[in-house]
Amino acid sequence: MGRASNGGLPKDLPMDKTVTINESTGLSGPREHAQPRALSAGGTMGRLSVQALVKDLNPSQREAVEYRGGPLLVLAGAGSGKTRVVTYRIAHLLATGEVRPWNILAMTFTNKAAREMKDRVWGLLGRNEPELWVSTFHSVCARILRGHAHLVGYPREFTILDQADQHALAKECCRELNLDTERFPVGLLLQHVSNAKQAFLSPGQYRSCWEGDYLRGRVAGLYEHYQEKLRRIQAMDFDDLLFWVLTLFLEHQQVLEFYRTRWTQLLVDEFQDTNHIQYRIVKALAEEHRQICVVGDDDQSIYSWRGADPTNILEFDRDFPEVKVIRLEQNYRSTSNIIQAASGLIQQNTMRRGKQLWTANAPGDRVAVYLAKDEREEAEFVANEIRHLVLREGFRANDFAVFYRTHAQSRVLEEEFLDSRVPFAIYGSVGFYERKEVKDVLAYLRALVHPGET
Ligand SMILES: Nc1ncnc2c1ncn2[C@@H]1O[C@H](COP(=O)(O)OP(=O)(O)O)[C@@H](O)[C@H]1O
Ligand SMILES: [Mg+2]
Repeated sequence: MGRASNGGLPKDLPMDKTVTINESTGLSGPREHAQPRALSAGGTMGRLSVQALVKDLNPSQREAVEYRGGPLLVLAGAGSGKTRVVTYRIAHLLATGEVRPWNILAMTFTNKAAREMKDRVWGLLGRNEPELWVSTFHSVCARILRGHAHLVGYPREFTILDQADQHALAKECCRELNLDTERFPVGLLLQHVSNAKQAFLSPGQYRSCWEGDYLRGRVAGLYEHYQEKLRRIQAMDFDDLLFWVLTLFLEHQQVLEFYRTRWTQLLVDEFQDTNHIQYRIVKALAEEHRQICVVGDDDQSIYSWRGADPTNILEFDRDFPEVKVIRLEQNYRSTSNIIQAASGLIQQNTMRRGKQLWTANAPGDRVAVYLAKDEREEAEFVANEIRHLVLREGFRANDFAVFYRTHAQSRVLEEEFLDSRVPFAIYGSVGFYERKEVKDVLAYLRALVHPGET
């Protein structure tokens, strides 16, 4: 079986929200002896000045950046400056000299968001700051485990399976267990296993949770066997990274203490996308010092199918009852017609904390809605509109973006664009690391590093 050491891109994630694991082996611990360079309110650190920083913020953003009273929940709509608050807060914490770069841990769900956050922070600081951890949950967990995997029964050099390898391994398990994969497709079983891990249930706990349920009984069998196999080949899948870190934190207090001492300031962007186990990890790290700032939009969780749980936002105040809530309601990205249309729709959502978006931007074009008879007519309409705007109004094909909810919908659009000669590119199909040739190269490299494995 070919195995990629890391960096596997789960196939089913939308292109710009893929999770890759960027590991660095450099683990550095708390530096109690290093003294922060204290600065006066108007002081500068390199090119960074506290006053210049807060000048770029509107009053609520500024309040969120300057707040130091403990847990902070920034509840905000799209384009209202959530990432701006996280990045400026980091820069502000450093500029005031309150903490050192290694005291800050900022996390988010996807690699793209983490990259953007890091670039924006580095931009503000005017330099790269490798000791400042700005990363995805998966990447943070992989790095933590490189230091302590032995405590959960793994070697430091454990392998991280990508989705295709995970699937192949599960298939092998199904065969050995004589599971009827016609009736229970491997993908479905694996999804259940993944849900179990995201709910932080061990195989045994999962089994007793679902006593008497036929399908879940099969899942429990597979889960158990699959975990044994993973351990034997010293591999973890993506969910394991989180699962084993939380286990580590719960079972080894001294490790948890180490990270609590190191990361005295936690920040989470796109908090609405965190799942149960990610939330538990954040909570474990923050519940003692309570210096945690989470930023999210309860109206835009799009990852419930991966276990993301927007009730994490709604329930943040259960675990942190003293939480301060700040709303960012000014949108900087869209025209007011778009904001009004979106707010009208979102108002229908249930279980939301509620916020009222507004913008100082111009009204812009009105939003058009077209109700098509079926997917074919819908695609035809889209292609015709684009052709019309290109031929008659001087637009170019790459001025347009077409969004759809699932990959399955791309087929009809593709056919329609081909027919009507609209040039197009589809994003988000096969991830780089899952391309056959890339996987082959990785497998060769792995064989060089671990000649014993096949
Ligand atoms: N106070 C502000 N003044 C000017 N532009 C702002 C302000 N806050 C946010 N923006 C701009 O609005 C856009 C959205 O900000 P961002 O932080 O990416 O929002 P979010 O993370 O909420 O989607 C960015 O282009 C940002 O520069
Ligand atoms: Mg953002």
